[in-house]
Amino acid sequence: MGSEQDVVEARFRAAEDPWPSREQDAAAAAELVGQMTFEEKLALLSAPMGYGPGAPEDAVGSAARAQGVPRLGVPAWDESDASLGVTNPMSVRGDGPATAFPSGLALGATFDRGLAEAQGRAIGVEARAVGMSVQLAGGMNLVREPRGGRNFEYLGEDALLTGVLAGASVRGIQEQGVISTVKHFALNPQETGRVMVSSDLAEPQLRASDLLAFQIALEHGGPRAVMSGYNRVNRLYASENPWLLNGVLKGDWGFRGFVMSDWGGTHSAAAAATAGLDRQSGYQLDTRHFFGEELEAAVEGGRVPMSRIDDMAVRILTALLSIGATGERRGAGAPSEEQLAEHAELAERVAASSIVLLRNEEAVLPLPADLPRLVVVGKHADRGVLSGGGSSTVTPPDAVQEEGFSIAQMSLPKVLHRPAPLDELRRALPDTEVVFLEGSPGQVASSLRRDDTVVVLAQHWATEGRDNPDLSLQDEQDALISAAARAAGRTVVVLETPGPVLMPWLEEVDAVLAAWYGGSGGAGALAAVLTGAASPSGRLPLTFPAGEEQLPRREMTDPESTTSNPGEPRTGGSPAIDYDVEGADVGYRWYEREGLEPLFWFGHGLSYTSFSYEDVEIAADDAGDPAVTLTVRNSGDRAGVEIPQVYLAPPEGTARLVGWARVALDPGQARRVRIVADDLRCYARYDVDDPGWTVEEGTHRVRLARSAAPGDVLAESALELGARRLRP
Ligand code: BGC
Repeated sequence: MGSEQDVVEARFRAAEDPWPSREQDAAAAAELVGQMTFEEKLALLSAPMGYGPGAPEDAVGSAARAQGVPRLGVPAWDESDASLGVTNPMSVRGDGPATAFPSGLALGATFDRGLAEAQGRAIGVEARAVGMSVQLAGGMNLVREPRGGRNFEYLGEDALLTGVLAGASVRGIQEQGVISTVKHFALNPQETGRVMVSSDLAEPQLRASDLLAFQIALEHGGPRAVMSGYNRVNRLYASENPWLLNGVLKGDWGFRGFVMSDWGGTHSAAAAATAGLDRQSGYQLDTRHFFGEELEAAVEGGRVPMSRIDDMAVRILTALLSIGATGERRGAGAPSEEQLAEHAELAERVAASSIVLLRNEEAVLPLPADLPRLVVVGKHADRGVLSGGGSSTVTPPDAVQEEGFSIAQMSLPKVLHRPAPLDELRRALPDTEVVFLEGSPGQVASSLRRDDTVVVLAQHWATEGRDNPDLSLQDEQDALISAAARAAGRTVVVLETPGPVLMPWLEEVDAVLAAWYGGSGGAGALAAVLTGAASPSGRLPLTFPAGEEQLPRREMTDPESTTSNPGEPRTGGSPAIDYDVEGADVGYRWYEREGLEPLFWFGHGLSYTSFSYEDVEIAADDAGDPAVTLTVRNSGDRAGVEIPQVYLAPPEGTARLVGWARVALDPGQARRVRIVADDLRCYARYDVDDPGWTVEEGTHRVRLARSAAPGDVLAESALELGARRLRP
């Protein structure tokens, strides 16, 4: 604990090289590849799925089992999903333990790099324990479409927040000797038609948004692998897009690891290999085994030079060597009891730090310890907390599994993570009578009493492979909430949702918590926040719209009209989505640019305590970086966390997040905090003609704020900045 005089400094450029051994690793890899036959090299360049039809017999049981070159000390290796924990699809590895971490947007809501790294470490430990060498983690597409089915796996709508958190989580995983990917590269924000849709966006805007997030993650985390998206980027498939892979990733950014396709996302041999794809993944889902005989023929026919095959093999081995995955084949074990206990505690800490208090009229929350009766309403409140569906779903042995959704003929369950919120609430409120109602509007109206406090757990399930048709809560939950609010004295709504939902009942209820998908620690965290054992400290990592008409694209393609999943016959042609509508103004920047008032802005989140800001100084430092120094004081009577945010608006254009700090304070405690906007790419313009970043000379407006809402600004200052340039 520092004293009031110590200044806590937050910076955003990577402080150290996350992969200092890359040259030695590459040299060692080149030496090994020099001893390989063509067949041996080729064997490294594709990996089948590690379960289901066509899986190799020695697969541990996971998304992929890749073949090594054992004669040279490169064993076969296994790869598991994903960003939220280690998955065990269709219980292929029996019922081994695993920690389910909260959804990606929950992690985004913590604004906490330390937690992201700790979570990465825990996932790395569990992946390593079950014998994995690669974790298909680092899900980090920017949320451009709030109805996107997979948003819950990602970190939010802001490039800096997403890049920094993804980088931290990758660093944590790789520290444990497990390669982490970042995915899905790039501009893959929706599921509808994902296996063929073209995401269209002009280069300067793409560089300054989705690509910037990946660039930052690479600098902070040094992922050894990048997974290309299923989609097309400006008409060319991401997996065979030479501009994206050879040009931006390997050229401009100097990436030395390998690019793997998504499962069933390879479409050619020569075109993909020469564009920069290094590995075909999950090829049972592709129309052909392109990086097998077809690539061999392309080399023999002179369409792919052998030097490129060498480069592909070297990149894969460079990655494996860098994390020590050579020598003996990794054996399948299990994390220890101690590790699992530690991870359970961490999962609950992440979940508790992620819950966002959106509304709290007359301080209805926290619930008082002497509350005589509490009514809990919600279909699954007695069973568990909801998890998102698809390849990222973690299934601890006690998970409740219901019928979910099929992707590539595999039925993936809808999962609820234990324990149940109802049980955790009963534990946290031993002197309160806690009554459970599964809940129909009629039942609620007749069972609730005028002096009741009711907590309604509202749910919205989302899954990979299918977008949500709209932002409304389904199954009459809006009516249920209104009925509860009419009947009870005090109404608290808890949203177990992938992200934003519409809240036609907002003014009728007293409090709203966004609790995301909370994972194994979700119920405990929720009980702690509801009862005040923890003060809510999350902030929205994405804007909650007031209605679909506010979105850059109100209409969505009908999912029935187009194929969205790999391994399925193609229908619907090649749809294209025009992301030039918002360009780089994703999320809150769009709302500011268009003068729209959303339901809740990016960065919003209340607390049970209050904070005051003192002695704010806004100035450029010696390096020319805008810096905001302030004292933040906990002026209330409970411990809490404040997240001061710095936004910067260049001479032309919208304000962007350029820095923040997460400050935990006891009642009465104060801290001097300095937030340095040292990543100029967050507010620079990307030039295509003279490639690189340019900071405009002129007046930049720097805001210290509690959220991206123009009304939430605490201090604003005009800074004269000189022109600056940075390479791509
Ligand atoms: C997903 C990837 C995942 C892969 C392997 C694909 O359907 O898009 O994110 O890593 O499957 O399971």
